Amino acid sequence: MKTIIEPFRIKSVEPIRMTNRAERLVYLENAHYNLFALDSEHVIIDLLTDSGTSSMSANQWAAIMRGDESYAGSPSYDKFKKAVNHLMPFTHIIPTHQGRAAEKILFTIIGGPGKYILNNTHFDTTRANIEYTGATAVDLVIEEGKNPSLYHPFKGNMDIAKLEAFIKEKGVENIPMVMLTITNNSGGGQPVSMQNIQETKYICMKYGIPLFIDACRFAENAWFIKQREPGYAEVPVETIVQEMFSYADGCTMSAKKDALVNIGGWLAMNDSTWAEAARNLLILTEGFPTYGGLAGRDLEAMAVGLEEVVQEDYLHYRISSTQYLGEHLTKAGIPIVTPAGGHAIYIDARNMLPHIGPLKYPGQSLAIEMYLHAGIRACEIGTVMFGAQADGTEKAAPMDLVRLAIPRRVYTQSHIDYVIEALTEINANKAQLSGYQISWQPKQLRHFSARFEPIKNEAKRKEAFKNAFAEAEK
Ligand code: F0G
Repeated sequence: MKTIIEPFRIKSVEPIRMTNRAERLVYLENAHYNLFALDSEHVIIDLLTDSGTSSMSANQWAAIMRGDESYAGSPSYDKFKKAVNHLMPFTHIIPTHQGRAAEKILFTIIGGPGKYILNNTHFDTTRANIEYTGATAVDLVIEEGKNPSLYHPFKGNMDIAKLEAFIKEKGVENIPMVMLTITNNSGGGQPVSMQNIQETKYICMKYGIPLFIDACRFAENAWFIKQREPGYAEVPVETIVQEMFSYADGCTMSAKKDALVNIGGWLAMNDSTWAEAARNLLILTEGFPTYGGLAGRDLEAMAVGLEEVVQEDYLHYRISSTQYLGEHLTKAGIPIVTPAGGHAIYIDARNMLPHIGPLKYPGQSLAIEMYLHAGIRACEIGTVMFGAQADGTEKAAPMDLVRLAIPRRVYTQSHIDYVIEALTEINANKAQLSGYQISWQPKQLRHFSARFEPIKNEAKRKEAFKNAFAEAEK
């Protein structure tokens, strides 16, 4: 059989409100052409993120009712810890309200000025939490991982030679931790091979540096290992996951991804001194160590989600449906980051819209047209997100991408076909798309709240940008 069906039936539905282009233009103008400012009710297909947007199963909802809300010693914590430990054999499992809370606690303990944390590619919140302590976040992904059109089965791999050279140059005493982000979200949702995890661990052991995994999309990474790495085709995904974590000394986790829940996370480790420090910090901002920043019911939902996410029918459907979108966009002549990632497809908007220079935000232009044309919301990852410089100028980001992140178990194949059709139509008329200018922006993280307008004339665009920055300085 060619068609890979969704391995679930739908018991409870949420309506999607249909809108037309004229209505969407009004919503968009009211949102100053910033898709983050839209009401989600006005979106038909929401591909802004795969984080916290999963559908929970009937079993997860049933477990929610069994949640024990005791302040201390809740049995829901035991179920949660057992489920985590089945896959990740760490001594200390500390629940947090989401991934970045685990990062904040971890780097408060091990970060600080003069320290370096090495990773294949840090996610934005990981980098921000490291830099907030005065430490430096260093990305050491392999060169192939930086080339959007090149095929490599494990584009998320750490560059082992660079890793060792960096440790030798800066000194072991300045490197409290090496991390591996699996899959590598900021590098296109690309996986890391088991061999690369082993080699990274070997270097860490040689120099006595702990290895932590940013585990958000661990099950998707394990599926890629099963599909692509010699020797793993017959190994159950659960066993692959257990092997992946056997090489690590701890992990940070956003359960909003591969634990199939809407909120949650954890910090795990073997080191008891660090764990004690972490629990002390946890109590300050998150809560008592048996609930972290969560309710007992959230812990129950995570425990069930962890059983469901390693089921191979689920992973087969999950990764195939992302690949299905990628293959059809490629067939339609739309350039994407290849191979397709696990949780998202990244369109290379700079390449697709060569008539719109990077400083006219080709990614934003494409994302806006996707909304106007078909009510699809996606996220620009390019010059809008990374181009602003501290001195008030801006420069082109390395790439101008648009991320189509696929929520887990939410959309069916016909929803994805609709996205493919919409993008095919947009691609046929792409010469008509034009650039945007920023009319207002905040000092930091401008992509969340900046205001945009279509560029009418080039001299005015430059003047408008200067005014927008001057405004933010006031
Ligand atoms: N690490 C990675 C690799 C992530 O992708 C994220 C979140 C986090 C850490 C932080 O977790 O959101 O629970 O605090 N990524 C989301 C995204 C926001 O849209 O890619 P969090």
